[in-house]
Amino acid sequence: MGVNPLFIVGFIAAALGTALASAAGSAQEGDAVRGERAFQRCFACHSVDPNEPAKLQGPNLANILGRPAAQLSGFAYSDAMRAAAAAGLIWDAATLDRYLADPESLIAGTAMSAPPVRDAQERADLVAYLARSGASRR
Ligand code: HEC
Repeated sequence: MGVNPLFIVGFIAAALGTALASAAGSAQEGDAVRGERAFQRCFACHSVDPNEPAKLQGPNLANILGRPAAQLSGFAYSDAMRAAAAAGLIWDAATLDRYLADPESLIAGTAMSAPPVRDAQERADLVAYLARSGASRR
């Protein structure tokens, strides 16, 4: 017997809602391929290879998304970063965006002396790249 028309209306409304929600965020929609290129500004100090021995100036960033700050036991984080971690800082798209835009403003006294990434699209691309890194590669 046919499909309940109310179901169809509901389905369309739900699909529209999803489309609108993603359109609202589209200015910040990151592109992992562009992000990999943008990561050129980071890789002097950071690896995203989970098997890379810790020898760089910055902590390994494999699987960083969703991870609390300052979690790598082998890395000597600054007191400022440890304090931020103790206060509950978790690296998600929003906190990464703020840290990359201006490391000092999110964590005063952080040891990361990298130039701010001023372009919001570039930050979103970096986050998209980091979201992929470490997950089932190699
Ligand atoms: C000059 C070296 C340097 C560069 C360039 C650099 N970082 Fe860092 N980064 C660090 C250091 C050092 C720390 C540790 C900071 C602390 O302990 O306060 C850090 C910490 C971080 C953390 C927190 C990691 C954790 O385990 O909590 C993230 C995320 C991060 N960097 C992302 C980036 C990204 C993305 C870029 C490129 C846009 C970048 N960094 C460029 C040196 C660098």
